[in-house]
Amino acid sequence: MMQEEIKKIQDEINAFIISNESDLDNFRIDFVGRKGRLATLFDQLKNVPAEARREVGQTLNGLKNLAESKFATAQESFSNTQADVKAPDDLTISDPISQGSLHPLTMVRARILEIFNRMGFSVSDGPEIETDFYNFTALNFPANHPAREMQDTFFIEKGAGDIQDDVLLRTHTSNVQIRLMQHQKPPIRSVMPGRVFRNEAISARAHCLFHQVEGLYVDENVSFKDLKDTLYHFAKEMFGKDTQVRFRPSYFPFTEPSAEMDITCLLCKGEGCNVCKQAGWVEIAGAGMVDPNVLENVGIDSTKYNGFAFGMGIERITMLKYQIKDLRLFTENDVRFLKQFS
Ligand code: DAH
Repeated sequence: MMQEEIKKIQDEINAFIISNESDLDNFRIDFVGRKGRLATLFDQLKNVPAEARREVGQTLNGLKNLAESKFATAQESFSNTQADVKAPDDLTISDPISQGSLHPLTMVRARILEIFNRMGFSVSDGPEIETDFYNFTALNFPANHPAREMQDTFFIEKGAGDIQDDVLLRTHTSNVQIRLMQHQKPPIRSVMPGRVFRNEAISARAHCLFHQVEGLYVDENVSFKDLKDTLYHFAKEMFGKDTQVRFRPSYFPFTEPSAEMDITCLLCKGEGCNVCKQAGWVEIAGAGMVDPNVLENVGIDSTKYNGFAFGMGIERITMLKYQIKDLRLFTENDVRFLKQFS
């Protein structure tokens, strides 16, 4: 008789839908309150024969838990919606917005452009999706020349759309040199920042996406000394007056002669460490005198004009400046890393 009543109430509790505050109140009065039907059953427990009392008591306790937890859950869900819609007392008070910080690569790019701006360089931009002509051919990379393999290219499609040329992701920002010289008469003095892409496995030292700043100066009587002075000044501004600079002969198809510029390793001050591979020096830029073939490819008279060019990696410079040892940190967006630059 008592067991039947318990079963009936259990079914009712389970079927009860609490969809608003008045349902919640009714549920409480019926099943949870001190004068509710459950309380009445507890009162009747003393009439149950002693042998069965223990078992019935346990079932009744289970029922009580069921009702209380259903009530608590519903009550909580209503109090949440209430908090959500509650307006603040003063609508004009804004929440404090936590301040973000510039990405270290953004800061260093801005600093590089600033240093060159002061030396009279404008800023130019060009496409990341490029044709073979601008990325290689116009820069004096001969067809089938191994120099093309110096940079592992992501090719998109042979002759995509109406384009009669290989389409690729630019492997360097040198493509912008060509576009600039096609549209502007010398004197030209510009820096060209941007993203570049190479088909390389991602590691602490290599990435398939990174950033460069290209530089170009074309005029009458530009000398190798002008190039050295410009990069020398840049290195001192960027890394501090005590930084030593050296130029080593190198090879690029688009410059003749070509050089690479090293600075003293900032981590070990030239003593030799893991970052500079015990050399005491680290490379920060490629450079050289613009090859006359490149000038002719864009219709600039190479008997009248000459120029210098350089290219540097923004990641490399940032890693040296802030002693960052893993390239992958730049793209992981871990706030613990980014916060250090605020
Ligand atoms: N484009 C070269 C690279 O990605 C860097 C470079 C070297 C650019 C020499 C230049 C230059 O303009 O003159 O490795």
